[in-house]
Amino acid sequence: MNLMQNLLFSLLILASTIPSSLAKGAFKKSLASSDFSNASNASSARHLLEDNDSRAKRRVDLVQGYMTNDDLERAMKEFVQRCSNISRMYSIGKSVNGVPLWVIEISDKPGEEETEPAFKYIGNVHGDEPVGRELLIFLANWLCDNHLKDPLATLIVENVHLHILPSMNPDGYSLGKRGNANNIDLNRDFPDQFVFLNDDEDSRQPETRAIMDWARDIRFTASATLHGGALVANYPWDGTRDKRTYYYGCPDDDTFQFMSSIYSHSHYNMSLSKEFPGGITNGAAWYPLYGGMQDWNYIHAGCFELTLEVSDDKWPNASELPIIWKYNKMSMLNLVASLVKTGVHGRIYSSGDGRPLPGFITVSGINYTVRAGKAFADYHRLLAPRDKYEVVATMPGYKSKNTTIWLDEGPVTLDFVLDPEGSIKGSILQNVYDCNCNSKSKLEFVQFFGGVHLEVYFVFIVILGFLCLLFQRRVKVKNRQAAGAKRTVVV
Ligand SMILES: *[C@@H]1O[C@H](CO)[C@@H](O)[C@H](O)[C@H]1NC(C)=O
Ligand SMILES: *[C@@H]1O[C@H](CO)[C@@H](O)[C@H](O)[C@H]1NC(C)=O
Ligand SMILES: *[C@@H]1O[C@H](CO)[C@@H](O)[C@H](O)[C@H]1NC(C)=O
Ligand SMILES: [Zn+2]
Repeated sequence: MNLMQNLLFSLLILASTIPSSLAKGAFKKSLASSDFSNASNASSARHLLEDNDSRAKRRVDLVQGYMTNDDLERAMKEFVQRCSNISRMYSIGKSVNGVPLWVIEISDKPGEEETEPAFKYIGNVHGDEPVGRELLIFLANWLCDNHLKDPLATLIVENVHLHILPSMNPDGYSLGKRGNANNIDLNRDFPDQFVFLNDDEDSRQPETRAIMDWARDIRFTASATLHGGALVANYPWDGTRDKRTYYYGCPDDDTFQFMSSIYSHSHYNMSLSKEFPGGITNGAAWYPLYGGMQDWNYIHAGCFELTLEVSDDKWPNASELPIIWKYNKMSMLNLVASLVKTGVHGRIYSSGDGRPLPGFITVSGINYTVRAGKAFADYHRLLAPRDKYEVVATMPGYKSKNTTIWLDEGPVTLDFVLDPEGSIKGSILQNVYDCNCNSKSKLEFVQFFGGVHLEVYFVFIVILGFLCLLFQRRVKVKNRQAAGAKRTVVV
């Protein structure tokens, strides 16, 4: 009996000295590698770690200074009251124990559809990693306080729809444990590309289902979840087909490295990591996991998601929160701002009537499709800066078009006008149309000339094309200059 107790105690000590294994939740790291497929094994391991007296005692001290779930709800309600012109609050569902999963949306037009990208931040996926939920309230308040004062705050509020879910796992938080009230690790509960255990959607946890419905409802361009227990920006894939640990990049590996580096290099010292070069890591190269939220977002929601480990200490003393916010602030802001400061953006129109077409955007050499919005046919395609990309727009019933762009540090605006299949009109003119010029004037142009003769059409397109070529040169130079000034990293 004594021996057993000693053994148990040593195990606990051992477990608590492996912070990185707890971060993404690598209970399977210490268990056999096949245990990812057995939730009950994982939860018994969790019991071993967490449901003991010393932890419970330590917890009383830990929660000091942290918001309770009620405090958090109150803080969010106060926020949307104080900043009602740039925010709204809504719930995406309820936890197992019936706590609403509250979201704040920050935008100059909250709740309205615009031709803007949307970003989501999710905190507290793991109940015992509460730093994220606090940081997200700091972030919201900073944006409200600095809107129209600080250029970065203004840029985000005016050009992005930022959705913030401070706590995905309020039950786990109030119980002081990793999983939800059913003891399920929510970052193992999503459908997976290699392990088909989670495919039955009805058996998902309510918190997981809420996220899945949310991501289907709102077309997020990118997102990040905040975890604790390490200091690194983690990107897909998180799992490998053969369950072994090695670098396994997704089709957008370059883009993900670029995004992760924005986070790590804007951070106080994440990029100085000795364990992770540059402060970033491919998920599977660190340790593979299955059923995670990150890979699901990229595969099923068209959303480029990072998993951010924002502090080595999962549950630091609350007095450290302001400094952790200070360390992460520019990272959190720059990551959201990267949605409009980089990448290719535009809209897809029909050449017939100038109507927006909710088509698709692909990039040659990258096996991934980005969907344009239903209402405005706007698309937002994140890409790492590189010399040349060939961008292709497609829409069923229309001829697809492709254009080559040069992507420096700054963003590129690129609209497409597609011809209906079977029409001969404009087939030789289409390349002129694709130039990178002001989308608004082009739309007006298309609408204005909707019913005019082809000859007039032709002359104007040639003139417009010429002007566009001239402007394109100038815009490119300007972009380069602007980008040089924009990409500042501050601590
Ligand atoms: C999971 O583990 C439990 C107990 O260890 C066992 O009874 C069950 O059969 C396992 N399930 C799977 C799918 O391996
Ligand atoms: C970053 O700074 C914190 C606080 O000074 C320190 O505890 C941590 O070890 C540093 N991490 C790295 C990777 O330099
Ligand atoms: C592209 O990705 C899809 C999955 O999204 C896959 O089924 C397909 O085989 C891939 N194609 C190539 C050429 O790799
Ligand atoms: Zn975590």
